[in-house]
Amino acid sequence: MKIVLMGYMASGKSTVGRLLASQLGARFVDLDDYIEASEKKSIKNIFSEKGEIYFRKLEHQMLNEVLESDESIVLSTGGGTPCYANNIQIILEKSDGSVYLGMTIPQLVDRISKEKEHRPLVKNIQDQELPEFIGKHLFERIPFYAQAKYKVDGSGTAEEVVAEIRRLL
Ligand code: S3P
Repeated sequence: MKIVLMGYMASGKSTVGRLLASQLGARFVDLDDYIEASEKKSIKNIFSEKGEIYFRKLEHQMLNEVLESDESIVLSTGGGTPCYANNIQIILEKSDGSVYLGMTIPQLVDRISKEKEHRPLVKNIQDQELPEFIGKHLFERIPFYAQAKYKVDGSGTAEEVVAEIRRLL
């Protein structure tokens, strides 16, 4: 069984994924952590030393690798994962359930402004520019996120979001 969580940065994919995996008795994999472990480098350093395209290629490879495994896995993807290459098709074909954790722009601004430093795409964006930046990004990305089998409101507590996902699965 493979469950894939997707959604924008700071939508709670990792926290929710970890809790969901523990309740389902599945292995939890965070794609960013998986990439960092395989490269022995932080995402921030991969972006600054090798660039975003290199990161997107790795992300594509590692997504395939994780979803090829025979184990039961809950996978939290990075915010951009479903939006590059044919990643969304891979997710839809190789998972038993894909879930989009939806959040509004103000909710995302609130969370992201508190934790920008380790996120290479937003770390240089001024707080007052975040709504415009996130809004534009969502405009491009929602068509991909919207292909997930299920959509849940990501703004509740992790317990609430997990309960909602389990009700849908
Ligand atoms: C990215 C989101 C990040 C990480 C990378 C790029 C994106 O993951 O993969 O910084 O393109 O939205 P999180 O969504 O876990 O922050």
